[in-house]
Amino acid sequence: MKDINTLRAEILKLTEEYYHAKFGQQEFIPGKSKVNYAGRVFDEKELVSLVDSSLDFWLTAGRYSASFTQKLKDFFQVSDVHLTNSGSSSNLIALSALTSKKLGDKRLKPGDEVITVAGGFPVTLTPILQNGLIPVFLDLEIGTYNIDVTLLKEAITPKTRAIMIAHTLGNPFDLGAIMEVVKEHDLWLIEDNCDALGATYNGQLTGTFGHVSTCSFYPAHHITTGEGGCVVTNSRKIGHLVRAFRDWGRDCYCEGGVNDTCGRRFTQQFGTLPLGYDHKYVYSEIGYNLKMTDMQAAIGAAQMDKLPSFIDARRQNFDKIYNGLKDLEEFLILPRATANSNPSWFCFLLTVRENKGYTRNQLVEFLDENHIETRNLFAGNLLRQPAFMDINHRVVGSLDNTDYIMNNTFFIGAYPGMTNAKIDYMIDKFHQFFKQL
Ligand SMILES: Cc1ncc(COP(=O)(O)O)c(C=O)c1O
Repeated sequence: MKDINTLRAEILKLTEEYYHAKFGQQEFIPGKSKVNYAGRVFDEKELVSLVDSSLDFWLTAGRYSASFTQKLKDFFQVSDVHLTNSGSSSNLIALSALTSKKLGDKRLKPGDEVITVAGGFPVTLTPILQNGLIPVFLDLEIGTYNIDVTLLKEAITPKTRAIMIAHTLGNPFDLGAIMEVVKEHDLWLIEDNCDALGATYNGQLTGTFGHVSTCSFYPAHHITTGEGGCVVTNSRKIGHLVRAFRDWGRDCYCEGGVNDTCGRRFTQQFGTLPLGYDHKYVYSEIGYNLKMTDMQAAIGAAQMDKLPSFIDARRQNFDKIYNGLKDLEEFLILPRATANSNPSWFCFLLTVRENKGYTRNQLVEFLDENHIETRNLFAGNLLRQPAFMDINHRVVGSLDNTDYIMNNTFFIGAYPGMTNAKIDYMIDKFHQFFKQL
């Protein structure tokens, strides 16, 4: 019988061959092939890494989780990265961590207000509601699709304790204005960085401004692990809390399969438990289990090596699409990077100018007939969605732009899988649509 190292090497060699046979060169046929708005971009390395981890059959966090975590820490230059099973759960535990009694008077308590926006993906908002906090909505800007900070100071009351918003589709929000208010009013800042991995503001990565931030590794995102995400913080204290909320609420922070990291496993006093009760089974938070598996981390570790080239490709694709659609500005509002930022574009956002003889639905249906995929800016106005219509909230100013975006905005792909041929085809189709008006 062959030894296991030889067998493993043969399996991995075959996996590489399999990749080329199944996923290698796929030809783009204009008018026939689909132009996706996003998708997984990977090569044999991800597949080999995944199979390698499956052969370990460790399953829960192991060597690949350690390597993926380290690569993320190096990327963000932070003390703590905690892998999770999604961007949504990352948002949930990032905010929940700030409700911990261990934060004393600084902790978020039910009834505290959190500034956010109503236009975007629901799970930036849901943790606010799930923790009994009150969302306070500001409008969006058309063009950057980020929070309009004009009324930010007006939105603040003695009850305001935090700001939780996303860098919309890779475009950083106005961190200058937000950080000023965060500092002045001693607020928590939770950055939903799920759609913006690699974006910078004044040269600094988004996700490193707030007290805590989140990433998503769902396939449409900058890197993928299938399902997956992480929470990022440069505070050891917040990191411990995030981990506790992720890992059943437990106080112990040993890695899987490890005992007594703190050296005080049987000597501490917690709650009204007997002295020395096993630290492994002490619960200091009301938590969840939202951990990532090592197989997901194996894909993520391989994706991390491609991240810089992915970010570059997204920026280049954005520029190509922008230049190709520039002459259609009479009909379409083109996206605009926030001042002082270098976005890591998730996609290419467009807004229909009203009263130009066509509607968003007509345009996206035409694109769809031509196999060009589009998406709306997620939920539009969350306050108009069935689940959120009756939530306890406050609105400062109007949400007119949010409604305009709900009615008129959509996006197309700018992800690294967009080749020049796909981009040229897409630009052609836009011109064809407006010529026939
Ligand atoms: C801004 C934002 N936050 C969070 C999420 C949730 O991420 P996930 O799908 O990994 O739960 C998404 C979804 O794509 C998102 O767009």
